[in-house]
Amino acid sequence: MNNKKNCRVSGNPLSIITDFGNQPLGNGFLNEDEFNSEYFFHMQVGFCNKSKLFQLIDQPEPQKMFHENYAFYSSLSSHMQLHFKEFYNFISSQENYDRDSLVVELGCNDGILLENFSKKNLPHVGVEPSKNVAEVAEKKNVNVIQDFFNEDTVNQILKTYGHAEFFVAANVICHIPNIIELIQNIKLLLSKTGKVIFEDPYLGDVINKTSYDQIYDEHVFLFSAHSVQYMFDLFEMELIDLVPQSTHGGSMRYVIANKGVYEVSPVVTRILDEEKLTGIDTIEKLSEFDKNVRNSRKNLVSLLEKIKSEGNEVVGYAATSKSTTILNYCNIKSDLISRIYDTTPQKIGKFSPGMHIPIIDYKYFKDSDCKNTFLFAWNHFNEIIEKEENYTRSQGKWITHVPKIGFIK
Ligand code: SAH
Ligand code: TYD
Repeated sequence: MNNKKNCRVSGNPLSIITDFGNQPLGNGFLNEDEFNSEYFFHMQVGFCNKSKLFQLIDQPEPQKMFHENYAFYSSLSSHMQLHFKEFYNFISSQENYDRDSLVVELGCNDGILLENFSKKNLPHVGVEPSKNVAEVAEKKNVNVIQDFFNEDTVNQILKTYGHAEFFVAANVICHIPNIIELIQNIKLLLSKTGKVIFEDPYLGDVINKTSYDQIYDEHVFLFSAHSVQYMFDLFEMELIDLVPQSTHGGSMRYVIANKGVYEVSPVVTRILDEEKLTGIDTIEKLSEFDKNVRNSRKNLVSLLEKIKSEGNEVVGYAATSKSTTILNYCNIKSDLISRIYDTTPQKIGKFSPGMHIPIIDYKYFKDSDCKNTFLFAWNHFNEIIEKEENYTRSQGKWITHVPKIGFIK
C-alpha cells in the first residue's frame, strides 16, 4: 500500500476532503469463487494547499491494478478512436514535429493513439505494463515496451530510438504516484526542444459536476492547471498551452516544454485565472464538493429505492471503473441495480467489484424489458444513445448522476 498523509510532491500535510470508505479495485471484476478473497482499501482523498494537488491518501500497489488481465481496452469506444485521431493530428501539427520526430507514449494500452503513427511508418514507441492490452497494440504493428515506465525503460528507449521529441500520455499520468520520479525520467528522455503533451480528467469538471466517480484506485491524482504548473516548475519546465477536452466527462490537455523555448499561449493565463475565480484551488470549494458528494449519494439511493418500491427494476449500462466508486460508496447491490450490461469480453460473465452485481453482454440489453437504466458511462452518452436508440424509442428511460441525480430528458 502506498500510504501518504503528506503531499506526494510538496511533502506538506494533506487536508482530507472526502472519505469513500472501503473500496475494491475499480477494474477488479471477479468470479464468484473469488468473492471471499477480494481486496479492499480505505479510499480517502486529500488536498495540498501548496502544490494544489488533489490526491488519494492510500493507493494500492501498481502491480495489483495493472497486469496481464487489465480489463480496460481503449479501442472499444468508437468515439475515443476519433478522439485519438484528433490527438495524432494535434501532435503532428506542432511546430517541432517532423517525420523523424520520435513520439513516446506512456500507457499506450491497445495502441489507440500510436496506431495512427505506425500506419504511416512514423517513429514511435509505447510503454505499457498490462500485457493483454500491449499484445493487442503489437498486433496493430505498434512498437511496445511491455513494462512500467522507469529509468530502465528510458535507457532502453534512448539506446534504441534516441531522444523523444514528444512524450505523450492520456489518462495515465494521473495513475502514477511517484510523479517526481516520473518527471525526472521524462526530462532524461526529452530533447531540449521536446514537448510533453498529456491529458487527464480535469479537477474543475469533477468539482463542477460532482462527478466523484472519477475518484478510484487508479486515479491517484486529479490535476488542475495550477497543480501541473507547480510540478513541472520544479524541473524548469512550463505550461505552454492548455486545451479543454470533452472526453471522460471533462478532461484537460496540458502542453509543457522546457522554460523559455516556446511562447506561452494566452489560454494558459486565462485558465489559471478561471481556476482562481472559481476557487477550485481552495479548501472551501472542496468542502462544498464533499457536501455535494454526500447529497448525490443520498439522492441516488432514494431514487433507486423509490423505483423499487413501485415494483420496478433498474439495470446498469457500462461496467466502468467509475461505477465501482458509485456502487460501493452508495452501497448499491443487485436488489437496487439487478445487472450491468457491458461490451468488454473480460468483464462479461463476471461480477462487479465489491457489490457483486452480474455483468451481462450488452447484446442482450435489447431483449431486456426493464425501462429504467442507470448510465454508468455518462461520458459516452452520445455513442450509447445512438447504439440503443430502440430502447429510448420504446419508452426506456436513462438515469444519471451528473450533474445531478435524475432521468435524462
Ligand atoms: N491511454 C489510454 C489508456 C488509459 S488506461 C487511453 O487514454 O485510453 C491507463 C493505461 O496506462 C493502462 O493500459 C495501464 O496499464 C497503463 N499504465 C499504468 N501505469 C503505468 C506506468 N507506470 N507506465 C506505463 N503505463 C502505465
Ligand atoms: P469508460 O468511461 O471509458 O470507463 P472507465 O470509467 O473505466 O474509464 O467506459 C468504458 C466501459 O464502458 C467499458 O467497460 C465498456 C463500456 N462501454 C459499453 O458497454 N458500451 C459502450 O458503447 C461504450 C462506449 C462503453
